[in-house]
Amino acid sequence: MNLAITGPTSGIGTETVKALHTKFEKIFLLARNEGKCQELIESLSLKGAKEKFEFIHLDLANLSSVHQAAEYLLEKKLPIHVLINNAGGIFPEKLKTKDGLEMTFSVNHLGHFLLTNKILPLLEKAQGARVINVSSEAHKAAKPDFEDLQVTKSYSSFPVYANAKLFNILFTKSLAERYADKHITSYALHPGVVKTNFGNDFSGIFKWLIKLAQPFMISAEKGAETSVFLSLAEGVEKKSGGYFKKSKESKPSQIANSRKYRETLWEKSNEIIGTI
Ligand SMILES: NC(=O)c1ccc[n+]([C@@H]2O[C@H](COP(=O)([O-])OP(=O)(O)OC[C@H]3O[C@@H](n4cnc5c(N)ncnc54)[C@H](OP(=O)(O)O)[C@@H]3O)[C@@H](O)[C@H]2O)c1
Repeated sequence: MNLAITGPTSGIGTETVKALHTKFEKIFLLARNEGKCQELIESLSLKGAKEKFEFIHLDLANLSSVHQAAEYLLEKKLPIHVLINNAGGIFPEKLKTKDGLEMTFSVNHLGHFLLTNKILPLLEKAQGARVINVSSEAHKAAKPDFEDLQVTKSYSSFPVYANAKLFNILFTKSLAERYADKHITSYALHPGVVKTNFGNDFSGIFKWLIKLAQPFMISAEKGAETSVFLSLAEGVEKKSGGYFKKSKESKPSQIANSRKYRETLWEKSNEIIGTI
């Protein structure tokens, strides 16, 4: 079996790779920092690690980088049995990507939307592939405005992040519906409140709040557990399209189940990609 994961260079992604590496023959580390990937591979001190792992450059804030990473994978022609769309972030100020898109939307949602759709033939080839999208309970605060996905009005980091994490769930449900006939299943998850580099770019009150919360946060190793469970658990296919917490199916917000919203998101995401 072969695994591809985004965001393996820190926090939950690193621990997911550590927990899964013995279960897969080939692991594609999709990341923007090759040095950190090498450190991860070396930390596993595994025989044959050099052949097992492959770094592929991926910057989710640059759609041409996403295209290139996907094309590289397609050239390999190997089936991808598990794709974990794990990378993500929250940004204190409004930032734009290389393509002029709002950063939170692009890194958490659009880059993964493009990557997943582009490598569809490899997922199909696996005859039972799983796509796992790392979302968050933050999605429950989402109030998306599909007419303003680029946040041209006022920017506030948490609401924009909450919307992006809702999009992870809407995307999961769309994948489950659209690609069931290709034997592809899809799952979204909340990893818990996890002590990682998440939110490290903040200063002031938000940083202070994170510091205060740290004693109550779980370790990155524990935070990886639901991603690991969804990668390996037998029989989980029946729950394709589901949202998971602590390795159990959980109820997402009402709007996360909205067919209208998931179709709008799919159309708008395709439209934006088409204009770049
Ligand atoms: N920590 C929590 O409490 C929590 C709660 C709910 C959900 N989540 C979600 O869990 C996922 C993992 O986050 P984490 O907590 O492990 O945070 P983290 O330690 O900050 O890790 C984030 C990962 O995403 C990568 N990344 C960020 N921007 C990228 C870009 N433009 N292109 C490619 N990769 C990029 C980072 O790469 P670099 O190493 O190069 O920076 C890093 O590997 C995220 O989707 C997050 O939203 C976290």
